Amino acid sequence: MNTITPFIPRQSRTIEHLIEGIATSDGAGVKLTRVLTGKLQQRLDPFLMLDAFGSDNPDDYIAGFPDHPHRGFETITYMLAGRMRHRDSAGNEGLLENGGVQWMTAGRGVIHSEIPEQKDGVMEGFQLWLNLPASRKMIAPWYRDIGSAEIPEFVTASGVKVRVIAGSSNGVSGAVTRETTEPVYLDVHLPAGAEFSTTIPNTHNAFIYVYRGTVQVGETTVPIKRMGILHNAPEADGITIVATEDARIILVAGKPLNEPIVQYGPFVMNTQAEIEQAVSDFRNGRLA
Ligand code: CO
Repeated sequence: MNTITPFIPRQSRTIEHLIEGIATSDGAGVKLTRVLTGKLQQRLDPFLMLDAFGSDNPDDYIAGFPDHPHRGFETITYMLAGRMRHRDSAGNEGLLENGGVQWMTAGRGVIHSEIPEQKDGVMEGFQLWLNLPASRKMIAPWYRDIGSAEIPEFVTASGVKVRVIAGSSNGVSGAVTRETTEPVYLDVHLPAGAEFSTTIPNTHNAFIYVYRGTVQVGETTVPIKRMGILHNAPEADGITIVATEDARIILVAGKPLNEPIVQYGPFVMNTQAEIEQAVSDFRNGRLA
């Protein structure tokens, strides 16, 4: 692991507003907090959904997500703690566990299941949905399991640990890079009192989500379990985050597609006709 001295932005982005997620359940009854959905899909284009899950009660997660389809986007599952078995119609199978990431491009279609492989203990993590450009919505499915040890990390002189899942930060390239939307996905662990800075391209929509402790961005305090949507300002070249206590956050940014978004459950396309096609393909066994 490298120790680096972070870049200092000329002007940090600020928090536009705070979002509290909505408690819900999905799959066969997995309890989760839906942080990003609906109206925020336009504001946070190219991101379509963020679910945060975390429980030490097996009743909250044990049923998992049995077979279900996806078309038109990518799912990025980051498992902080726990073990989940993935199987899909493209023949992929993998075990997602402690600190690992599963990056799945549904493209023209996959049917997959995500089933816990533990009967007790903590299951905690995130699932983020990243849209695909219209020209790539019907590409062949793709999948990669990225073990925790394969995720590039660095530590700053003030003791901040950064895991670079996608994009890059302070010269460290992440496990995945993507054209068009150029996503950045960081997991940042800050000791109390520490400050962390990174570039965020001013073309990008961006947010942070605090999953431990509390942080401060400019004048705004962002408490645990809140998303802070970052203001887009042409002159802001990055962000500076200060931990008011030991804190962990994810920072997510991406270049908007500015294309129509039509979602019907697990299908996200550009037109209603494409959604009807997806539903019909699924019913007729032609989705995957
Ligand atoms: Co799924």
